[in-house]
This record gives sequence, structure tokens and C-alpha cells, in this order.
Amino acid sequence: MPETPNPTADALLHRALQHVEDWEQTWGAFDRHPSLGVDPARLDDVFDEYLGRLEGNYPFHHPRYAGQMLKPPHPVALAAYAAAQRINPNNHALDGGPPTSQMEKEVVADLAAMLGLPDTSLGHLTGGGTVANLEALWVARELHPDKRLAVAETAHYTHGRMSDVLNTEVVPVSADARGRMDLHSLDRTLEQHDIGTVVLTAGTTGLGAVDPIDEAIPLCKAHGVRVHVDAAYGGFFRLLALDEAPDIEGFPAERFRAIEEADSVAIDPHKHGLQPYGCGCILFRDPAVGRFYQHDSPYTYFTSDDLHLGEISLECSRAGAAAGALWCTLKALPLTPNDGLGPILAACVRAARTWTDAVKASDTLAVVAPPETDIVTYRPTTDEPTLSALHDASQTLFDTAMNDPDDPIFTSVYRLSADALTSLHPSLTADRDEAAVLRSVLMKPEHETHAASLVDRLADTARSLAPPPGSVRDRDGAA
Ligand SMILES: Cc1ncc(COP(=O)(O)O)c(C=O)c1O
Repeated sequence: MPETPNPTADALLHRALQHVEDWEQTWGAFDRHPSLGVDPARLDDVFDEYLGRLEGNYPFHHPRYAGQMLKPPHPVALAAYAAAQRINPNNHALDGGPPTSQMEKEVVADLAAMLGLPDTSLGHLTGGGTVANLEALWVARELHPDKRLAVAETAHYTHGRMSDVLNTEVVPVSADARGRMDLHSLDRTLEQHDIGTVVLTAGTTGLGAVDPIDEAIPLCKAHGVRVHVDAAYGGFFRLLALDEAPDIEGFPAERFRAIEEADSVAIDPHKHGLQPYGCGCILFRDPAVGRFYQHDSPYTYFTSDDLHLGEISLECSRAGAAAGALWCTLKALPLTPNDGLGPILAACVRAARTWTDAVKASDTLAVVAPPETDIVTYRPTTDEPTLSALHDASQTLFDTAMNDPDDPIFTSVYRLSADALTSLHPSLTADRDEAAVLRSVLMKPEHETHAASLVDRLADTARSLAPPPGSVRDRDGAA
């Protein structure tokens, strides 16, 4: 990869805000109303307190933060967002923000193309993955009001919650120990129940697993059943499934490729698209579903007969800045496998392989399930091979590592069922229904270079917490 400079947020922010300020001036000077003033001393105090309180965050920007799906936006997104935010367009209607509405249409088309959906697909940005999935499930219900929804037990909890909101009945589908929908269970469900839509996940929240989308879609089609793919987390990894993408061991490219056959897809630019929160996206293969959104608004849609995004979304006000930031980011870092966003995602996927290899090489940690994307699960080996011992050891390692005053490492904890754990690790005895393991989301490309040393530190911490040498440790291993 050629060396290109990393842009700094400072320089871009300055340029962006200055430009907008100059543009504002072109409309004529006027005095701000005195009621908007703030006492300088009070403002100073407020900002001191505010900035101080922000230090209560975990260091999401740093490689040592390898916990949840969290990282700061790219500086390009930050500056582009700030520029538009200063104007504060609302992408509900073209009247609220013509340029950012147009940008939204362009980025939605780019996302559809990356996912392999036809260019006639209908879509828009949303506040996040929850609303994107809600819209997909709502359209599913409108199309088949009397049918049920089939959802894997490892899908994000939002599907259960939103089905409650929509009063849609859910039929749960079993998953295998690695968190992927079980095809036999899906087949049985399709035989036994009147299913309208099946929800598949491309990148589960827990294990980063990818449902067998390539096999499930033909099965669903054979039953005349629609498919919604929740690619909120994993959608951008489809770049690595394109022809020119590098091969990465254990990466399920064929499953990502099959997303192109889905009826609807949710994808979150605020996860792997380098955006600040408030940027999800829903796409529908059949633009005719736009009819379900039809509504009359006496307040809006005046300036043009062109499509106003509010006419095809459930949310009303939405930040035009979110569209502007994504547009700028995708122009600077395009959706291509070997340039732009592709190498960032590839580094994350490779980081997960490096992390897993380092865990395998350690004497105090074991892999729980091999990674498919960039989420890794691992556990401390224990003196006693029981789920209780594992649960306590995981919790202690998690707490100790993040509270180390000199060199903290932030991971997260994930609870797996006794069935999944004993299937992955037969030497473990199930003395409880579920147990915690450690989980790391390696969604920063810098994790690739830091993975091995972070695991070494965690292994050292696990050793310091372990019983004295000579005792028998559970070394069952790595899957
Ligand atoms: C697979 C999946 N779907 C849906 C969601 C919900 O998305 P959001 O938090 O953007 O509302 C998440 C969040 O982690 C997710 O991982």
C-alpha cells in the first residue's frame, strides 16, 4: 500500500468551519440576538467541567481498547459532519437540505452497489441499525400481515423487540455452537410454520459470525419466503468478498457474496463505515415497497417533485450532516477492495487471525471459536474444568486487565450457553446454564500491529491470577 498521510481532524475542521462561516457571511451580516449570549466565565467553567467529564470515557481511539463495537469517526467524517452540522440541514425533505439529500441518494446507491443489490433498489439512511432493521421488519409485515418471521437465536435482540413493537410473531431458529443459523433448523421451520420473511445476519454482534446466507437464500426461495439480511455490523466486509480482494484464511467470502440475493439489507456506516453515531441504512431490492411509506404531509415536500427522502423513511427529522459526512468519507476512502475502505477492513480481519494465533501460542488462554470477521472470543484456561470456574476466571481477567493502573487493556465479556461451550470445548463440565468468555472487537486497523502484544499482556495477567504452578489446568483447547 502506498504511504499516504493521515489527515488531522484539526486542520480539516478549521478549513471546514471557516468555509461555512465565510459562506454564512455572504448572506449579509447581522447581530446575534443578545439572549443567545453566555457569560464568558460561566462558559469557561462549563467547558472545563464538560471536557473533564468526557475523560470518563474509555480510550476508544486506542488499540488498547479492544472491547465493544466502538471507535471514533475518521477525521474526514468528523470535519465533514461539523461543516454540515453548522448549517444543520434536515434530510427529511429536499427543502430541509438539498445538497445533503442529494449526497444521501448518492451514498445509498454506493452502498447498494457494494452489497451487489440492483441499482433500482430503494433505500435511505437511518439513525442506526435498530431503525434500519425496524423498517425491514415493518415492510415484511406489510407484505405478509398474517405470516411469521424466522430469526436465529443468535441474531441481535432488536429483532425480537421490534417484532413485539410490530406485533409480529417470531419463530426462533437454532444456531450452531459458533453462532451461525442452523440450516436443518431453518428447513424445519420453513416446513412447519407459515413464514413470510427470514432474518439472516452477516456478522453477529456476539461472535462476528456469518449465517450461511449462500445456502439459506435458495432454501427460502424454494419456499417462496423473503430474506432480510442484518448486515448492520458486517455489511462492509462484502468488499473483501469481491473478485480483486485478497484471500484471508477463514473469511466466509461466499456467504458475503450471497447478500446480493437478499430482499432487504440493513447496514450501519456508524460501525464499519468510519462514521459518527447516527448513521444506519436500509435498502430494499424492490422499489415498489416505497408504497408502504406513503403519507400526506401538509408541512413539507414543497420545493420539488423529486423524491423527498422523508417520503420513504419512517423517521421524520434526520441529520443531513450524517449524509454529508458519509459522502465525503466515501469519496476520500472509496468502497473498493484494495484502496479506500477495503484495506482498513482487511487489516481488522487479519488482526483477528493474529489475535487468535497469539492466544493459541499462550499457556494461559484458549480460543473459544475461530473468528470469521474481526470479533475474537477467547478464555482463560482454568484449574477446574467447569463453567463456574471459567465464568469467574473470565470475569476476573476482564476486570483486572481494564483496571491495571499502568497498562490497562479493555476487552468485553460475552455469555455463551452451556450447550455451545461444551460443544466447542468438550472437556468443560456444565455446572451452570451459561458462562462468560472474553470477547474483543478488533475494528481498528491498528489492531493488526498490536494484537500479539495485547494478547501477551492478557496472558501475563491471566498467569498472575492463576493458581500456583504444578496444579492441573484445563488445556482443552482451542477450537
Ligand atoms: C447485527 C446488529 N444488528 C443491529 C444492531 C443495532 O444497531 P444500532 O446499535 O446501530 O441501533 C447491532 C448493534 O450492534 C448489530 O450488531
